[in-house]
Amino acid sequence: MKELKVGLIGAGGMGQHLAVQCDSLEEAQLVAAADPSEEALQRLASKVGESRIVQTAGADQTQVGAGTEVSSEDTAAAGSDVRRYADYNDLLASDVDGVIIAAPNNLHADIAVAAANKGKHIFCEKPMALGIAECDRMLEAAEKAGVTLMVGQVLRLIPVFWQSHKIATGGDIGKPFAINITRLSSWWFGPGWRSQKAKSGGVVYEVHVHELDFMRHVLGEAESVYASMGHFTAAGVDYEDTAFIQIRFRNGGIGSLHCGISSSVNQYGMTIQCTEGTLVNEGFGKRLQYARFGESHQVIEPEMITLEEPYRAELGSWAQHILHAEPMVFDASDGRAAIELAEAAYRSAQSGSAVPLPL
Ligand SMILES: NC(=O)c1ccc[n+]([C@@H]2O[C@H](COP(=O)([O-])OP(=O)(O)OC[C@H]3O[C@@H](n4cnc5c(N)ncnc54)[C@H](O)[C@@H]3O)[C@@H](O)[C@H]2O)c1
Repeated sequence: MKELKVGLIGAGGMGQHLAVQCDSLEEAQLVAAADPSEEALQRLASKVGESRIVQTAGADQTQVGAGTEVSSEDTAAAGSDVRRYADYNDLLASDVDGVIIAAPNNLHADIAVAAANKGKHIFCEKPMALGIAECDRMLEAAEKAGVTLMVGQVLRLIPVFWQSHKIATGGDIGKPFAINITRLSSWWFGPGWRSQKAKSGGVVYEVHVHELDFMRHVLGEAESVYASMGHFTAAGVDYEDTAFIQIRFRNGGIGSLHCGISSSVNQYGMTIQCTEGTLVNEGFGKRLQYARFGESHQVIEPEMITLEEPYRAELGSWAQHILHAEPMVFDASDGRAAIELAEAAYRSAQSGSAVPLPL
């Protein structure tokens, strides 16, 4: 039964995907969306309509839209009950139980606080906010209102990362002590909020809070962060395009992240060294391999890991927590911890010294 009425705030690329996934859950229905762009709202309604038609036809929900011929009139009709607002405050004044926030990063904190003040549960896209002071404002408002606040650190649920975490922390190759991630691409943000420091926070907030969160997921709480950053090739952004971030963890472990949008060759890879073996993950949709010292490599191909669509899984967990107090796969404290690591990295790059945690 669709018990949870959900509103979307920010109906761009990510918002549309989250809305479709949320609407496909048994327990939730998308009833409203807010965005100053009427075009974005129209596309959202059509996407949700298309997904509903496909689901009604009994298609696999992870393949929404694939191979299904539906007219634009059909999709518009199927998504027409999604109420549209230009101003998110009007959506918050309506009867929604919870909201998904997928607006530009600099708006996350204000929207989340306004939502909590109206008693709405909140699923907020990463990055939670641009700094821990804003995160704390969100946490306080949610706690005061008694509403659920989740931050979408979805990398943990991407199959190859989920499996890597399971192996690295499950004991088969000992205990993890070092993690290295490289994630490099060329500048692909285009003009708009994502390319502006004031709105996105910079590349570490906008993209690499994913990897910082994953490093903490494997090695636990951090003790200090040292970072070097610079702007080298990405002509379209007013912030750093390359960063090296080194983390010391409280358990003695060490981590290193090389990231940015300044490379003509796309690269995504992770190595986790454990006391009895090593795991290497080649990134989204690629294989992973691991070996115990002196033993042959085990290879796991992506198709061998079957998991629910990651964005649907996180929203399902959010809904189950709201409705049945089930534990969440991750929560706002994880979102805040990723922001703390990012903020420490920026402070370290500025000062040239390692920054101790907590901030
Ligand atoms: N978890 C992930 O893998 C992932 C991937 C992409 C984006 N994101 C996050 O999702 C968020 C949105 O990113 P996107 O790629 O969809 O960006 P986008 O630019 O495609 O969409 C943002 C939307 O927000 C709308 N907006 C602007 N001001 C608003 C306001 N005051 N109220 C309501 N809506 C407003 C814009 O009109 C636009 O439609 C960002 O926080 C981004 O970091 C997460």
